[in-house]
Parts: sequence; structure tokens; C-alpha cells
Amino acid sequence: MNDRADFVAPDITARKNVGLRHDPADFTLPQPLERYSAEDHATWATLYRRQCELLPGRACDEFMQGLAQLEVDAERVPDFAKLNQKLLAATGWRIVAVPGLIPDDVFFEHLANRRFPVTWWLREPQQLDYLQEPDVFHDLFGHVPLLINPVFADYLQAYGKGGMKAKSLGALPMLSRLYWYTVEFGLINTSEGMRIFGAGIVSSKSESIYCLESASPNRIGFDLSRIMRTRYRIDTFQKTYFVIDSFQQLFDATAPDFTALYTELADAPVLGAGDIALGDAVWHRGDRRGWGESGDV
Ligand SMILES: [Fe+2]
Repeated sequence: MNDRADFVAPDITARKNVGLRHDPADFTLPQPLERYSAEDHATWATLYRRQCELLPGRACDEFMQGLAQLEVDAERVPDFAKLNQKLLAATGWRIVAVPGLIPDDVFFEHLANRRFPVTWWLREPQQLDYLQEPDVFHDLFGHVPLLINPVFADYLQAYGKGGMKAKSLGALPMLSRLYWYTVEFGLINTSEGMRIFGAGIVSSKSESIYCLESASPNRIGFDLSRIMRTRYRIDTFQKTYFVIDSFQQLFDATAPDFTALYTELADAPVLGAGDIALGDAVWHRGDRRGWGESGDV
């Protein structure tokens, strides 16, 4: 989480943004299309092709439909303005270019107003498989296709509104876990089997396979208050994935005001990223192979 007071841009973000200025109020800038090199476009095409080979049958239909309906460019880093024409027409969302990670309050404000902040720059070729902070491939390929789904689009806007409130109540860690285990690393149950919808997964080649096929991680039915008590990993694959039944379930569970829940959970014990708790709807109990014992955040 980033407060403005302690906000520091990571090195790669600072390097990519040399000479560019963003609006200090909302952190947006015009997408600097002229900064994309031929190498950037080639890297985008490689990432796109790799994921599109893997994702059919693994990602949920809504994601695949969004990718097709938005006509996300396969060969070049997409032009945000072009993409926005389709996105705005579909659900009233649009994407805005930002330099990289932005402070929490700015992020929430954008979501609450149906604007999704997208880091404009792309990882370098030696970072195909992993980089610590989000780039345009993660933010755009990973997050934007689902914004064409009306229920998910409303969920994300509600999350933004809830974020501003959680901040004022000192409950951001709990709400951040919800985002992490749904928007970033969520799985969804379908009549054809378990599928991926989380952006952190669909934008990662190795985690797209691991999350569904590995015996290591737990796969547990979605439970709002349980998720709000669960720590997570930012440096390795997740130890636990939570599985929703539908986007409507997610929207309905998160529609009520969380104030009372935050109070109730304030003194509840926090669970480790790989713990199984009493009452969990366990789809798969992980065999814990390859897990580091420390490092949950
Ligand atoms: Fe993300």
C-alpha cells in the first residue's frame, strides 16, 4: 500500500519516465506512444502470443471474450485511445496512462470513477517471465479484458469506492487482501471446470499453469471474511487460490457496507498464506511442495 507521504517510484519506473511529466493530482499523463521502440512492440507480441497459446481452456470465457471484443492488439503495444472507444461503449470504463504504481487514494479515486490506471511502459526482454512492479502488459492484458463484463466492471468500481472508505477506517490491509485474492489471483468455477480470472495469473505464463495444475497450492471456495484475514505472497506463486462461483457471487458478497465486518475482524487472528482454516470449502488441499515458510505479507 502506498500513502502519498511515503510514495517512492521504483527504479525501473523512474528510469522509464525520465523527461515525462504526469499530472500531480491524478498521476495521469498522455500515453507517450513515441517512446515505444521496435523492441517494445516485439516484446509485447511475444508476451501476447505466449499467453494466447496457453489461456484457451484455462482463462474464463469472459476474459477471452473481452480480449476478442476489445480487439486488443496482438502485434504492438495498444494505443489506449483506440481501445477506449470500444471499452467506453461497452461499460463506460476507460483506461488512463500512469507512470507506474500510484498512491492508494489516487488509485481508488480512478476506480470509483470507472477509470483504470494502466502503467504505460513495457518490461524489458530479459523480464518476460517476472518483474516486480506492474507494466503495460500486466495492467492492460491482465486487467482490461474483464472490464467489458458488466458485473465485474461494477465490482471494480465498488471496490474503488470501498477503498476510499477503508482508508479512512484504517482497514486497508483487509480490503487489499480482497483485491489480491480476487482481481489479481482469483479463480472461478464453471461448468467446464476451474478457470482463471485474476490479472496476476493471466499475465503470467508460469502461474497460468501452476494455479490450475500444480498439487502445491490450496484451492478454497470464496469466503469474504476469510479472505480479509489471509496474508499473501508477493514474491512467489500463491500458496492459496480462492474460487468464486460467479462474478455475481463476488459482486453480491461485496456489495454491503464493510464497516461492521472491519470492526468484527479487527481482533480476529490473521491466517498465513498457506493455512487451511476450520470451515473452509476445500477444493484442493495443497501438498505444500516448494513453499517457503516465511515471506507472507
Ligand atoms: Fe494488477
